[in-house]
Amino acid sequence: MYSMLNIVAAFVFLLLQLLQGGTALDNGLALKPPMGWMSWQRFRCITDCKTYPDECISEQLFRRHADLIVSEGYADVGYEYVIIDDCWLEKNRDNKTNKLVPDRKRFPNGLNVLADHIHERGLKFGLYQDFGTNTCAGYPGVINHMALDAATFANWDVDYVKLDGCYANISDMAAGYPEFGRLLNSTGRPMVYSCSWPAYQSEVGQMPEYESLKKHCNLWRNWDDIDDSLESLMQIIDYFGKNQDSIQPHAGPGHWNDPDMLLLGNYGLSYDQSKLQMAIWAVLAAPLIMSNDLAKVRPEIKDILQNRAVIAVNQDPLGIQGRRLLMKNNIEVWRRPITPTADAEYSYAVAFVSRRVDGAPYAISFTLKDLSLNNEYGYGVQDLFEPNSNLGVFRSESHFNTRVIPNGVNFYKFTALGN
Ligand SMILES: *[C@@H]1O[C@H](CO)[C@@H](O)[C@H](O)[C@H]1NC(C)=O
Ligand SMILES: *[C@@H]1O[C@H](CO)[C@@H](O)[C@H](O)[C@H]1NC(C)=O
Ligand SMILES: *[C@@H]1O[C@H](CO)[C@@H](O)[C@H](O)[C@H]1NC(C)=O
Repeated sequence: MYSMLNIVAAFVFLLLQLLQGGTALDNGLALKPPMGWMSWQRFRCITDCKTYPDECISEQLFRRHADLIVSEGYADVGYEYVIIDDCWLEKNRDNKTNKLVPDRKRFPNGLNVLADHIHERGLKFGLYQDFGTNTCAGYPGVINHMALDAATFANWDVDYVKLDGCYANISDMAAGYPEFGRLLNSTGRPMVYSCSWPAYQSEVGQMPEYESLKKHCNLWRNWDDIDDSLESLMQIIDYFGKNQDSIQPHAGPGHWNDPDMLLLGNYGLSYDQSKLQMAIWAVLAAPLIMSNDLAKVRPEIKDILQNRAVIAVNQDPLGIQGRRLLMKNNIEVWRRPITPTADAEYSYAVAFVSRRVDGAPYAISFTLKDLSLNNEYGYGVQDLFEPNSNLGVFRSESHFNTRVIPNGVNFYKFTALGN
C-alpha cells in the first residue's frame, strides 16, 4: 500500500510541475536528489601520481571508484554519478581546435574511455568546469568557449556537469549560467546541471535568484565549500537553518539546494557525527555525493552511507525540503514531510540534534503537538538508524521521550496512520 501511495504522490507532483508551466528546468533529470561520488573533498587537487598513485586525480582514481561503487554495494542503494571535480585538465586548450584537453599523463586514454567504463557498470559520468576564465585551481574555464565546451561535454558522454564560479564577475552570472544551460540543452544530450552561482552571490551578501536557478539548474550550491570537520559541517547546518525561509521553498523534483558533499568515511567526523550529517542531509533533501576513498571506508560508516531507511527519506518522491522546527536548550528539532500520506496528512522524518557538549546524553520530551504532528489517528514511530524498530503508536497529546548524546542525532520516522 505504501508503494502505491508513493506512486500516486510522485504522479501528483509531476502533474503539479507541469501545471506550474516551465518554472523548473525541464530536462527530466534529478527528479530525486542526485546520489554519487565526487573527488574534491577527499582528493582535492592532488596531481602527483608518482608519489600518490592511489590519490591523484587520474583515470585510475575514477575507474577504481566506479568499480567500488558497484562491488561495495553503493550502487544497489542508489549511488549513481561518478564525478570528476577540478584538476583534470591540461593548462592549455588545444592550440588548433581550442578544445579542452584532459591531462595527457593522468587521463592518457581521454574521457570517452573512462565514460565507457563508468557506463558499463550502470553508472553515470559527471565532470567539473568553471564559468570564468579559469577553474578554481587555475585550469582553463568555459567563459569564452561555452558552445564548444558544451558540445565537447556531450561528445565525451557526460551525464552531469558541475559549473563552478571562480575567476568570473558575479554580475555576469545571472546571464551566463542560464546561457551555458541552454547550450547544454541544445546538444540534445540530457545532462544534470549543477550551478555554483548562488554560492558566489551569497559570499558577497547578495540574495541568490532562486526563480532563475530553478528554471536553469537541477541543483545549486547555496553557500561555502564543506571541509572535513564537525565545525565546517555545523556552520553549513546553521546556514541552512538560519536562512531556511529563503532557501527551503525552492527545492523540489528536478531542482535542489546543495549543502555540499558528504564527509563520511574520511578523518573529521566520528561515528555519531557521521549519522548527524546523513540525517540532516536526508531532512534537507540534499544531494548525497560522497567524497572519500571507498576502499577505506570502515564497515560501520558504510552502514550509515547505505542505510536504506535514511536514504528513502532523502529520496522521498514528494521532494519537500525539511526545516529546523525549533531550538530549545541547545537541542534542535528538524522535520521533513514525507510519504506515505494518510487522510491528507504527511508522514514525517524528525531529527533531534544535540548541540550540547555537557557529557551525558540529554533527556528530552516533546508532545507530538509540540512537533506539529497532529494526525487524528496518530503515527507509528520507527528509529531510522534501527530500521526494524517499532516504537509504537503516538498521538498528538502523547509524549515522545528520547535522549541525545553530545553532537549527536536521533532520527525517527513518524508514519501517519489512517482511519
Ligand atoms: C599550445 O601553446 C602553448 C602556449 O604557447 C604551449 O605552451 C603549449 O605547449 C601548446 N600546446 C600544444 C599542444 O602544442
Ligand atoms: C570582469 O569585468 C571587468 C570589467 O568589465 C573586465 O575587465 C574583466 O575582464 C572581467 N573579468 C572576468 C574574469 O571576466
Ligand atoms: C531541452 O529543453 C526542452 C524544453 O525545456 C526540453 O523539453 C528538453 O527535454 C531539453 N533537452 C535536453 C537534452 O535537456
